[in-house]
Amino acid sequence: MAIIAPSLLAADFGRLREEVACVEAAGAKWLHVDIMDGHFVPNLTFGPGVVSALRPYTNMTFDIHLMVERPENFIKEFAEAGAEWISVHIEACPHLHKVIHQIREAGCRPAVALNPATSLRGVEWILDEVDMILIMTVNPGFGGQRFIPAMLKKIEELAKLIKDQGKEVLIEVDGGISQDNAAAVCRAGAQVLVAGSAIFGQQDRAAAFKALHRAASQAG
Ligand code: DX5
Ligand code: ZN
Repeated sequence: MAIIAPSLLAADFGRLREEVACVEAAGAKWLHVDIMDGHFVPNLTFGPGVVSALRPYTNMTFDIHLMVERPENFIKEFAEAGAEWISVHIEACPHLHKVIHQIREAGCRPAVALNPATSLRGVEWILDEVDMILIMTVNPGFGGQRFIPAMLKKIEELAKLIKDQGKEVLIEVDGGISQDNAAAVCRAGAQVLVAGSAIFGQQDRAAAFKALHRAASQAG
């Protein structure tokens, strides 16, 4: 059964604590938190202070998506703020192997994110080291964008690569995930589905979370 991770980016920032409580009560086990620096992506969001402020109010697993340059400079702060998972972008990490180890040493589970145009080639040699690969299904930076259909094949190819190497690495997808494509991404091999506007963009967050969960389970 797929994990649905609501993305805080689409939440009402004036009511973060209530928004988090609402999706948790609906059954969410993970919360996806997008960290943007205005350089790696043309937008700004939260810092570790927001993560640590929310930590006492929820038991959800914090899935921190670092869309920042020099992510190695922020790993310790986010680990201390209460992150369980930390994703870094391959495009921002010339020393990826080292950064992955840094995440594990900080006590978190490492994931590597790939922009839509980035080849799977770069993760071939690090599948031994990571616990999850995040396939961006839109260009990172903003919520509410359209899912890029070509990413279905990329997910399938990654699933095959992981299987051929006999590894236990999760596949997460992020961007434009909705009830319309949830089953298709699961069928392609995704196990963690990030959803911003499809949940926090809806009037009834709990109903939207449940509907997405049901749609994902149609994958069979
Ligand atoms: C985009 C972020 C996503 C974003 C997804 O750069 O990484 O996590 O919140 O939003 P939706 O689900 O609205 O595409
Ligand atoms: Zn994200």
